[in-house]
Amino acid sequence: MTAKVESWGSRVGLILAMAGNAVGLGNFLRFPVQAVQNGGGAFIVPYLVCFLLMGIPLLFVEWSMGRFGGKYGHHSTPFILDSMDKRKFWKYIGVFGIFTNLAVAAYYCYLESWTLSWVWHSISRTFAGQSQDEVAGFFNSYVGLEMPFETIFFWLVCLLLNTWILSKGLSGGVEKVAKIGMPLLIVFGVFLAIMAFNVEAGVAGAINDASVGLNFLWTPDFSTIWSPKVWLAAAGQIFFTLSVGMGSIQCYASYVKKNDDIALNAMSAGWMNEFVEVVLGAAIIIPISVGYLGVDKVLEMTQTGGLGLGFKTLPFLFEQWGTVLAILCGVCWFGLLFFAGVTSSLAMGTPVMGFLKDEFGWKHKNAAWAFGGLVFILGLPTVLFFNYGVFDEYDYWAGTFSLVVFAFFEIILFAWIFGMDKGWKEITTGADIKVPSVYKFIIKYVTPLFLGVVFFSSLPGVWDKIINKDIYQKIATTTDPKELELLNETILFVNASRLLLLLVFLGISYLVFVAYKKRKKEGRI
Ligand code: PHE
Ligand code: NA
Repeated sequence: MTAKVESWGSRVGLILAMAGNAVGLGNFLRFPVQAVQNGGGAFIVPYLVCFLLMGIPLLFVEWSMGRFGGKYGHHSTPFILDSMDKRKFWKYIGVFGIFTNLAVAAYYCYLESWTLSWVWHSISRTFAGQSQDEVAGFFNSYVGLEMPFETIFFWLVCLLLNTWILSKGLSGGVEKVAKIGMPLLIVFGVFLAIMAFNVEAGVAGAINDASVGLNFLWTPDFSTIWSPKVWLAAAGQIFFTLSVGMGSIQCYASYVKKNDDIALNAMSAGWMNEFVEVVLGAAIIIPISVGYLGVDKVLEMTQTGGLGLGFKTLPFLFEQWGTVLAILCGVCWFGLLFFAGVTSSLAMGTPVMGFLKDEFGWKHKNAAWAFGGLVFILGLPTVLFFNYGVFDEYDYWAGTFSLVVFAFFEIILFAWIFGMDKGWKEITTGADIKVPSVYKFIIKYVTPLFLGVVFFSSLPGVWDKIINKDIYQKIATTTDPKELELLNETILFVNASRLLLLLVFLGISYLVFVAYKKRKKEGRI
C-alpha cells in the first residue's frame, strides 16, 4: 500500500537501533531505583533468573513474530498476530502493541525532555553552590510547573525532535541517530563509571567509598528470595528494559528481510542492553549517591518518585568535584540519558506509524506527525498534573501491567497455537548462531508457566491499585490539611487518567475493527 518498501540500511544499523530501542531511561534511572527499593543484592538474583527464563525467550519470540508478519507486509502487532492465527481474538490482543507504545511514549517523552533541560542547566551553572535540598527543590519546582514556560518549552522541543527524526524514516532517521547515539552513550557511561569508582570516603565530602554502594547491589542476599513483590519488580524491570511485551521489537523486526538472521541479532541487542544495565546502569547512580548520602538516605529518596533520583542528586554530587568536572559530568550524564531516551522513544513511534501506513494508507511523514500529535495530547495530563500521580499511573498500567498481559498471550499464541515446531523453524531460519535447543522446551513450557505465575500473583496488587488502597491508607494517616487535599485530588486525577487510557485502548480497538473490515472488503486478508 505504501509507495516504497521500507527496510534497514545495514546490519550494524539494525542492531544498534534495536539496542537503542532496549537501552533507555530504564537502564539508568529505573533499574537502580528498583534495585535499591527491593533490597539491592536481594533483587539481583530474581532479576537474572527473569532475564534467562523470560527475557531471552521473549526476545527470540518477538523477533521471529516480527519477521514473520513482515513477510506479509504487516508492521504492527494486531495484524502480525493475525497472520499467525486467524481467530479474531488475536487482533485485539495485538492492540496492546500499539496502545503500550503510545501511552508509554506519552510520559517517556516528558521524562526525556528533562534530560535536555538538565544538560542546559549543567552548562549554565544553575546548580553551582546549591545545597542538596536546593538541587532537589529545583526538580520539584520544575515538574510542579513553577516555571511553566521552560518545562513546556523543553517538552515541545523533545516532541518535535522525535517527530522530525521519525519523519526521516528508518534508515534515514532512526538508524542514523542510533549509530551516533549508542557509541556516545557507551563512552559517556564508561567515563562516569570511572568517576564513580573513584569516589572515596573523606574526599570532596564523600562519606563512603564507591564499594559500599556496589556491595549493596552485588552481594547476593537470599533473605527475600521468596517475596512475590521482589519477583514482580524483577520481572517488570526485565520487561521494561528489554522492551519485550511492548510491540516495538516486533515492529522493528518486521522490516528485516525474510531470510536474514534474527537469532544472533536478538542476542546481540539483548545482551548489549544487559551490559549497559547491570554494568553501566549499576555503576553510576548507586555508587555515587550512596558514596555521598549513604544507603538509608538514598533509599528514602527513592521512596518518593524514584525516577527523579538522577535529577535530584547527581547534579549536586557533581558540583562537589569542582566546576570543570561538574560541567563535564553533567553534560555526559544528561547527554547519555538523552541518547538512551531518544533511541527508545523513536522505537515507540514506529508501531503506531506502521499501523497507520499499512491499514489506512497514510504517507510516512503524516504518520510521524500523527504520532507526535497523539503523544502531545496524551502526554499533556502527565505534564500538567505530574504531582497528582498521573505520570506514575501511566507507568503502572501501560509500562508495567500491559507488558505482562501482552507477553503472556503472545507466547501462548507462538508456542501453542502457531505451534512450537513452526515457531522453532522461524527462530532458526537464517540464524547465524546455533540456538541452544533447550530454548525450544523453555519457550514452550517454562516461559508461559513462569509468566502465568507472575501474572496471577500480581493480581492482588492490581486490585489494590484499582481501589487506590495506598492513597486511602495515606489519607487515613495524614493530618496535614494541605497534604489531605492533594491526596483527595490525586484520587480524582488517577481515576481520570485510567479512564483516559481505557478510552485510548478502546479507540485503537475500534480502528483495528475498521481496518479489518476494510481489508476484507479489499480482499487483502
Ligand atoms: N526499553 C526502554 C528502556 O529501558 C523503554 C521502552 C519502552 C522502549 C517501550 C521501547 C518501547 O527505557
Ligand atoms: Na533498557
